[in-house]
Amino acid sequence: MNNKNSFLTLCLLFILPTILFAHNIPLTPKEQLGKELFFDKISDPDRISCSTCHASSTGFVGDIPDINKHGAIYPGAVPQRFGNRKPPSAAYATFSPIFHYDATKGFIGGNFWDGRATGERLGNPAVEQALGPFLNPVEQNNASKLAVLKQVIRSKYARLWLTVWGEPLTLNPSKIDLNYDRIGIAIGAYEASKEVNQFSSKFDYYLDGLVDLTPKEKMGMELFNGDAKCSGCHVSNVDPVTNMKPLFTDFTFDNLGVPKNHENPFYRMNKVYLPDGSPINPLGAAWIDPGLGGFLANQPNLEWRTLADKNMGKFKVPTLRNVDKRPGNGFIKAYMHNGVFKSLKEVVHFYNTRDIASWPPPEVAENVNTSQLGNLGLTKYEEDAIVDFLQTLSDGYKLPKLGHNKWPCSTVSLDIAGPNPFNPSTKLNYYLPEDAIIRIEVFNITGQKVATLQDGLISAGEHQVTFSANNLSSGIYIVSLQTGQQLLTQKLILMK
Ligand code: HEC
Ligand code: HEC
Repeated sequence: MNNKNSFLTLCLLFILPTILFAHNIPLTPKEQLGKELFFDKISDPDRISCSTCHASSTGFVGDIPDINKHGAIYPGAVPQRFGNRKPPSAAYATFSPIFHYDATKGFIGGNFWDGRATGERLGNPAVEQALGPFLNPVEQNNASKLAVLKQVIRSKYARLWLTVWGEPLTLNPSKIDLNYDRIGIAIGAYEASKEVNQFSSKFDYYLDGLVDLTPKEKMGMELFNGDAKCSGCHVSNVDPVTNMKPLFTDFTFDNLGVPKNHENPFYRMNKVYLPDGSPINPLGAAWIDPGLGGFLANQPNLEWRTLADKNMGKFKVPTLRNVDKRPGNGFIKAYMHNGVFKSLKEVVHFYNTRDIASWPPPEVAENVNTSQLGNLGLTKYEEDAIVDFLQTLSDGYKLPKLGHNKWPCSTVSLDIAGPNPFNPSTKLNYYLPEDAIIRIEVFNITGQKVATLQDGLISAGEHQVTFSANNLSSGIYIVSLQTGQQLLTQKLILMK
């Protein structure tokens, strides 16, 4: 091996993997605005943000182990006030379709455990969802849309508004509704970004052929798709039409017969009052969560209202992506709409033995699914294998070695279009099958970045960039094109 080649090998073995993980994919201005709003404590009093109940370290659910261990409900800005459900993941939520009825599958889509953020008005459930918490007295508790906008106008990121919406934020009364909706649209954009929906789990890299699963994880996967029937609701295959990786939900609704969580603080909310003098939960400990049926029962749409009874106790199938993501090994998470289960082991054991072991009665006795779960006949080892598989779904997986120079294959391409070796400049062609946030950078063989040729949102199609190396010395350079999922590279030789 000559000197140049061994340098190049070194580069591919050690430097490119660092490049791949050292950079976060940049956000568009709209996504950045959404991120600022998501993490800002826009609440009254200013104690909590969206991220208080949806933290990235836990896969966008709550990150306080002591709460997860017990009632699993997070207090609002007014700390005595509690809502009734456990926060579901805010990641992958933007993929949920607009809430609708399908004659064979029943109700599908929307956001929230009961689908009530339908997405009908603004075209995406997560956008509509994002407008709820700010004004909800058991969440961020702001008095009005205007009160929310006033906090945004005072913020450090208010200048982003102009970039994103083409006009500065004002409190003009005729634009309050529009500007408030824009907050939801920006948050929805952040929630739809590659930073939130990373598709960067061990399982994703397994699908890309970059890493293998352990035999036990594979066994878990096979059970998940087979005897344990999990994929019947938590869809686990790559979509044959769109080629999209699975979200582990079909966005339908089901009553699994999950027991009550007696520690739910909502049961005490008959003694805590809203400013209008009414108790938050007049029923107190007698309250039963009606789920989807409760939402349907209050619909103006008569057809839906008549279907309420058949949907009592049903909750939206949650994504299982990040279901095990936690900041540390001993960290406790809560599962199901009411957070009654505290480990994945317990969840899987429940599916396996609900009908043959002594579990507490279901919270809602009607409509319990008895065909897909309850007595799966799994051994203890098989239960553990399913848990091992679920643990491969956490984003942020670090590939052990990327040295094989084997990148995920795709239809994105990067080709040298000018001379190579070159002096002093050359051209590169690249092709994107769809609009994408990308970065094209050039590195020298010690891994130092010497140029950024492209950075940001680029439209689909064929593009060309020029690399001018006027101030650089002769040698090998690596040009890389990075998208959310891929890294393509080409070797350039500068000969002066
Ligand atoms: C006090 C805790 C709390 C705060 C603050 C909060 N959420 Fe939530 N979030 C929840 C709970 C609880 C639910 C489920 C409620 C239900 O289903 O009735 C939820 C549901 C969601 C969902 C639905 C996910 C799905 O798959 O259906 C998204 C998305 C979400 N929140 C995003 C946000 C955003 C954006 C903000 C800030 C504007 C926010 N949340 C503020 C607790 C919170
Ligand atoms: C009939 C549809 C269905 C099947 C089959 C199914 N699930 Fe679920 N899963 C759901 C629904 C619905 C929920 C939420 C229920 C609730 O909160 O009351 C859920 C919740 C979960 C949760 C909790 C997630 C969270 O964020 O709280 C896990 C984990 C889970 N399922 C794993 C599995 C595994 C593993 C299997 C196979 C053994 C399986 N599921 C089979 C519908 C299903």
